[in-house]
Formats: sequence, structure tokens, C-alpha cells
Amino acid sequence: MIVSSSSPPSAPLGSPAGPGPAGTPRGLRHPGILARYGRLLPLTAGTPPLTLGEGDTPLVRAPALERRTGLGQLWLKCEGGNPTGSFKDRGMVLAVAKAAEEGARAVVCASTGNTSAAAAAYAARSGLTALVLIPDGYVALGKLAQAFAYGAHVLSIQGNFDDALRLVRELDAHGGVTVVNSINHYRLQGQQSAAWEICDELGAAPDILAIPVGNAGNVSAYWMGFRRYQDEGLIPALPRMYGFQAEGAAAIVRDTVIAEPATRATAIRIGNPASRHLAVAARDESGGLIEAVTDEEIAEAYELLAREEGIFAEPASAASVAGLLRLARAGRLPEGATAVCVLTGHGLKDPAFAVERAPAAPIVAPTLDAILAAADL
Ligand code: F0G
Repeated sequence: MIVSSSSPPSAPLGSPAGPGPAGTPRGLRHPGILARYGRLLPLTAGTPPLTLGEGDTPLVRAPALERRTGLGQLWLKCEGGNPTGSFKDRGMVLAVAKAAEEGARAVVCASTGNTSAAAAAYAARSGLTALVLIPDGYVALGKLAQAFAYGAHVLSIQGNFDDALRLVRELDAHGGVTVVNSINHYRLQGQQSAAWEICDELGAAPDILAIPVGNAGNVSAYWMGFRRYQDEGLIPALPRMYGFQAEGAAAIVRDTVIAEPATRATAIRIGNPASRHLAVAARDESGGLIEAVTDEEIAEAYELLAREEGIFAEPASAASVAGLLRLARAGRLPEGATAVCVLTGHGLKDPAFAVERAPAAPIVAPTLDAILAAADL
């Protein structure tokens, strides 16, 4: 590979060969968000060129779900392809790079698991300490494993995510740490990059962007991203934003605070979303909707994704597919429309969900006869 240190004079936005922080070779296939979209992000000469190769995640067409929903095109944005297995890496790379630039020594976040994994990874990479506050008993095993493996200081709070976020705000006021929850505005700025990638790849925004909603940062970031691309003259039209919450944690849908949110999709088990006002604005400005899906609908969508499309996403991610299926059944999806469904995290984040739902594998003798008898081929 020939590596040149000079940037092309007018590289298209989103081009992997576009200008990036110093030291990023041109032509690198996964240069990361800061290198790929630096022109649209608040970088300075002092921002470290932090990357774990985040972004550039697969956009995969979903023919079985197209048949089930009657959509003209349905694409899955597979955010499990990020370095720590969720979309959180997009905002975390910027938040941690800016924290390092500003001389921080420690970052802190409250998390249902994915934010803490991302914070821990990017902090480790940057030589910063990560303190993560998680709701005791409600963080999926894969996410917990990541926080420990990346060397974070993990505190299991006797309370839910909303309690943990309240404590993080108190720590922020107390001083000495940089908060990297999505109340840190760099997080949402970095997360816009997923919307930009979709537009770069499809050549336009989709008609519908379907997405799970928890703390409501991601739906807000996508909307910011699409609007930014329109302002830049890069897309002619904006999508409708379709957000989906879990029935037992549908604080925005019910326009209330839920003291005891309940859903098996632990990533979105949140009763008082921090970015609820931005999410409501995204819904209303786009002519979209935010609705609830049941845990049963989430489980059904989770299985369809894996068994009919070959894509393993965590339960919260399946809420976006569950929402589209529900709307399709009610005849509320515009026929022939193009939709992109955001699958926010990898299925391996929550292995217990898959295992709990499966029959135990039969134990068989190590002989061909035993296999043939048991396999029922
Ligand atoms: N999907 C997954 C897999 C998530 O981890 C989250 C949020 C969401 C969807 C919802 O995104 O909060 O921006 O509306 N997880 C946060 C965390 C709360 O701590 O990892 P949101």
C-alpha cells in the first residue's frame, strides 16, 4: 500500500480517503469516525487521532422482512459491527478524544451496559480511568464482561439506570471527572455519523428511519445528522423518524416518568430519558412517531432477524424491527417505501436471552448412528 501524507484537495464527504487527523494513512479501510467525518465534527489541531476502527458498519438488505412488511426496501444498519459491538463507539470516540484534549484524567458514565463498554474501551486506549455506574442485576453478561476486561472501575448501583444517571450528574457537579453519557454533547455529534453513512451508501436518506429509543440520545443524533446533511446540500429530503420504546419503559410514548421501568430488553430499561425533548422534536419535525412494542413483539422480531435474515442483534435492537412489523400489521406503513432499521447492538451482548429461549441441546454418544438418530435428517 502506498501511503501519502497529503490530503486530496476535494475528497468527497464520507470518503475513507478524506482528510483526517494527522497520522491517518490515506486509503485505510476503517479509518474511524474522526478521520472519515472530521470536516463535520468539532475537531481541533489538538484533538488526538483516537480510533478503534469504529463506524463503517454493514448496511444489509432484509428480503424476508421486506416480504413481511410490504416495504419496497428494508435495510438493516448493523451497529453490532462496531469495535465494542454497539453504536455507542461513534459518540464515545469523540467524547473521549475531547476529554483527553481537555486534559481529563477520568471519565464517568451511567449505563445499561453498552455505553460503559464503549467508555471503558476508549478510556483504556487513551490511558484514562473509566468509572462506570450500572444498575445492579440488569446488565447483560457480554457488556459486563467488556467493562471488566477493558479495566473499568465498575460500581453496581442499588437502583436503576435513572438512579445511576442522577448520581453521574451529581459527580459532574462535584468535579474532577468528565461525564461521557449523552448529556455530553460530543456523544450525539459523533453518533450523527451513522446517519451520514446511510446517506453516503444509499445516495439519499431513506423514507423511514426506525430505531429503538432508551435514553433517547440516538434518535436525536440521527435526526441532527440527517438535517446537517441536508444543510450541506448532500441530501434532498429528510426521513420520517420512527422510534420504538419497550412497553414497560415507554416514558416518551406516555409522556411521563416511569419510576420502575420494566423490560427484558435491558439496554432500554429507562424510565426518565435524558434527551426526551430532542427525541420529541425529532418525531414532530420529521412527521414521524414514537410508539411502544411489547417484550413478546421484541422477542418475535429478535427471532425473525436471526432465523430469516441471519442477523444476530441484541433484544433492544429488535425493538426497531418489532415496531415496523407492528405498523405493517396495522396497515400503517406506506407501501413501497424505503426504510432503514437500526440494529443498535450485537446479539452476543446478551447471550442469556438466546440461551433461555432455546431447548437444551441433546447430549449424544460420539457415534455416527447416534448423530443420525438425533438429528432427524
Ligand atoms: N439499543 C441499545 C443496544 C442500547 O444500548 C441503547 C442504549 C439503546 C438502544 C437506546 O439508545 O439511549 O440513545 O435512546 N443504551 C444506553 C447504555 C442507555 O447505557 O448503554 P438511546
